[in-house]
Amino acid sequence: MNPIKVGLLGIGTVGSGTFNVLKRNQEEIQRRAGRGIEIAMVADLNVARAQEVVGAGVKVVSDAREVIANPEIDIVIELIGGYGIAKALVLEAIAAGKHVVTANKALLAVHGTEIFAAAQAKGVMVAFEAAVAGGIPIIKALREGLTANSIQWVAGIINGTTNFILSEMRDKGLDFGVVLKEAQRLGYAEADPTFDIEGVDAAHKVTLMSAIAFGIPVQFDKAYVEGITKLGAADIKYAEQLGYRIKLLGITKRTAHGVELRVHPSLVPTQRLIANVEGAMNAVMVQGDAVGTTLYYGKGAGSEPTASAVIADLVDITRLHTADPLNRVPHLAFQPGAMSDLRVLPMSEVVTSYYLRLRVADQAGVLAKLTGLLADAGISIDAVLQREADQVSQADENQTDVIILTHDTREGTLNDVLAQMQSLPTVMAPIVRIRKEELN
Ligand code: HSE
Repeated sequence: MNPIKVGLLGIGTVGSGTFNVLKRNQEEIQRRAGRGIEIAMVADLNVARAQEVVGAGVKVVSDAREVIANPEIDIVIELIGGYGIAKALVLEAIAAGKHVVTANKALLAVHGTEIFAAAQAKGVMVAFEAAVAGGIPIIKALREGLTANSIQWVAGIINGTTNFILSEMRDKGLDFGVVLKEAQRLGYAEADPTFDIEGVDAAHKVTLMSAIAFGIPVQFDKAYVEGITKLGAADIKYAEQLGYRIKLLGITKRTAHGVELRVHPSLVPTQRLIANVEGAMNAVMVQGDAVGTTLYYGKGAGSEPTASAVIADLVDITRLHTADPLNRVPHLAFQPGAMSDLRVLPMSEVVTSYYLRLRVADQAGVLAKLTGLLADAGISIDAVLQREADQVSQADENQTDVIILTHDTREGTLNDVLAQMQSLPTVMAPIVRIRKEELN
């Protein structure tokens, strides 16, 4: 049988990895897929560089629409990124009856509903394993491997740049700004790393996992997003003393009232495996009612790890493209007519536990007042630590840091208490609040 023909839009880091791995492992991939998979045409603005990567045997053009218009192409891989031209090209490819493979989490998290509906109507597949956690097959696991389960929650380290920064901050006791500069110097973080450090990239990814885990539409606009830019070395140190590490987690959880969908720094008990995921690595925990807790670990970015996910999608499509569209695996794991309208909860309704750090006047009755406010609101305390404050000027040397860990409470309830605490004359600086996840 002739190989299935693939058109590649954008041949940067992931595109060249895809080309090279397909070539290197072609014989084994063909034995798995049932026929060969051939990148037959590439579109890239830098035609000369692209031609160098793929060699003279593959046609390279600068206009992606030439690839989409080619009747020989069955699958289009979109590796351009962003919401602009990439969205137009994906929709045009679908309209032309092509199957699509994409690593574009931003596009699917924001415009997924429109894109999946277009694909459904046209009877083509849109596959996106590479969009979440790079080489870790977490989409496949959630959509197919765990299909027996009522999934309860998913929590992941799904941004390598921020995990690298947090690891360095902890290892070397440095503040965020210093490590970010180092990450940029080493080429880990983008020159404009905003999406990484502000949590947006992780929020795109957890939005996609949420949709697949619970059968709800992709709703990036409802996600709570908080990055790591305000984290200080002192809190990483205090967390460590209390038996926790701070990680940027993407969390989605099913509750009786709706779905939690959130990205923010979280204290995680040091004894959890996920707390020990360091550097640029990714890891995702999934809790299902039948399977219990499962953990997936690997490289969340990079040329060949991400190519591994792209090619897995190419193989799936090669195996399934002749099947009746109604008998294929649904894009979001649940049949399109059986999606749930479970609402995404606002942050004030999320229930979790907290780390609070208060710079207070070191005098009698201060701690009693703080714990009294928590008790009045029905918030139970898990641990209290008092430490001589770092970086206090001589004039302020009668100040101290009080760290309080709470048990689970509603975030709205905690916000009210924090406002009361902040207005006390004995609380000398803005209160630091970091959420805490036990993940058990
Ligand atoms: N910027 C992402 C990260 C790359 O740091 O994990 C993969 O999405």
